Amino acid sequence: MTAVGPIHNRDVEEARNYHAATKHSYWSVRLGGHVLDWTNKPHPYKVYSGLPVVALPRDVTPPAMETLEAVSAFGSNKPGPVDLHRLAQLLFFCAGLTKKKVYPGGEAQHFRAASCTGALYEIEIYTVCRDLPDLPAGVYHFSPVDFALRRLREGDFRGELARATADEASIEGAPVILALTAIFWRNAWKYQARAYRHFYWDSGTIVANLLAATASARLASRVVAGFIDARVDRLLGLDTEREASLCLVSIGAHSPAPESPKVLPIAPKTVPLSKREVDYPLITQMRAASMLASEDEVRSWRSAFESKPAPPSGEKLFPLNPIERERFPVQTLGEVILRRGSTRRFAQLPITFRQLSTILERSNCGISADFLGGSGTTLLHTYLIVNSVEDLPTGAFHYSCSQQSLRLLKEGAFRREAGYLCLDQGLGIEASVVVFFLADLNQILNRYGNRGYGAAQLEAGIVGGKMYLCVYALGLGATGTTFYDDDVTEFFSPHAQGKVALFALALGRSARAPGRVTRLRPGAD
Ligand SMILES: Cc1cc2nc3c(=O)[nH]c(=O)nc-3n(C[C@H](O)[C@H](O)[C@H](O)COP(=O)(O)O)c2cc1C
Repeated sequence: MTAVGPIHNRDVEEARNYHAATKHSYWSVRLGGHVLDWTNKPHPYKVYSGLPVVALPRDVTPPAMETLEAVSAFGSNKPGPVDLHRLAQLLFFCAGLTKKKVYPGGEAQHFRAASCTGALYEIEIYTVCRDLPDLPAGVYHFSPVDFALRRLREGDFRGELARATADEASIEGAPVILALTAIFWRNAWKYQARAYRHFYWDSGTIVANLLAATASARLASRVVAGFIDARVDRLLGLDTEREASLCLVSIGAHSPAPESPKVLPIAPKTVPLSKREVDYPLITQMRAASMLASEDEVRSWRSAFESKPAPPSGEKLFPLNPIERERFPVQTLGEVILRRGSTRRFAQLPITFRQLSTILERSNCGISADFLGGSGTTLLHTYLIVNSVEDLPTGAFHYSCSQQSLRLLKEGAFRREAGYLCLDQGLGIEASVVVFFLADLNQILNRYGNRGYGAAQLEAGIVGGKMYLCVYALGLGATGTTFYDDDVTEFFSPHAQGKVALFALALGRSARAPGRVTRLRPGAD
């Protein structure tokens, strides 16, 4: 019998199979038979027993830059000071508890700064930093519920992340690096194996807030998705059967990392999430197949992606007409993040073409990431169903970032189709616009292997998260939405032929939703 070795990042059938197996279709949703066991719902927080606690300052200053400016800032190279107050601000405005909603039955739910599938909040954040004013160098876990850090390691371990990323320059020079991980079961409880996609979407929306907040603080930041997984997981002391690192975000610059102390194994104790957990092998398999094992592999993985623009086809071109900078609404990033919350009902009223243009232009200014080239490089192809936008026909469009224009693919009234594609939810019918991010999976897998699958989902999550912020800055509402995979591709074909659907966002004017909302300050409940 031939021994089966570990699955390699280049065995891209893994990603193809995972994607095919986790598609939604009309019938898969109806025949899936998955029933939610509410008595076994996972706890939304990672609770360690017995680690030293560092309380974060609660008097955080909201990020003051205008949202549309902050969202569109491409990574700078500014050193900028980072201290405990700044760290507390960044953590609160990307993953803090910002809202408590009490439902008519009296049940309360906490919501966080960034949107998340099912409000299940499976993404955890860890900080690896040098000595900062008021915070000794170490590896810390961020706990949003008591707004505190838990110290996992003492000492400056940034050098370990520099080695794990094969000396990625932004990681080598950052005083602070945040590591985002996913706890599988917390999301898989509801979404089963499809949760692997959600890990990247839900970290993407957090990263969108984080990049904007660092821009507002005039700090450099960069997303790094290429690293030796085992080294990062070990540094964070993860139970790798349940939790995995997804991406790193460097914050600040010009602070070279010294050689790291030896990384001894740690296995911090945590409280179980629920009585029992169900294992979804598709998740762990896909994760294993996407790992990078050596510095050479990381280096070759990282070289920039060359996007192939979609072939121009379609009838009419509509050049974007964004709002001039000097007429941007004066909505600071802090205000917008605190106000954001997914729209549950849209009012079926039109938005203006200038608003839509501004949202598209500002959220697509590029992301500083190791898997993307300069600004303008993207793994995504963006399609829209326009239900109701002043000065734009209703129909299906393709958005060209390089030409800053929309191309009409087919004219018509597609509210019903938009509702259907969004898993038969009214959101798609009522919204003014539904945006769909698609990607050329073959091209991505050829370039990046299985790990490219997560990178593309992550980019979609980040751009989706940026859109959320732009939409709310303009006084409108948005919600992420799931979709029937192949039906989306078919709807936008022949233009979208060969592409797969990654992420969708409905936007428009909000109608008021039921429930009483309390805005929270850091540490309040
Ligand atoms: C990628 C993504 C997909 C989502 N899909 C849906 C959906 O299909 N239907 C829905 O009602 N809400 C959807 N949401 C919204 C979440 O339910 C919402 O973000 C979560 O409840 C947290 O609430 P908040 O966004 O108001 O903070 C989605 C959110 C994201 C980020």
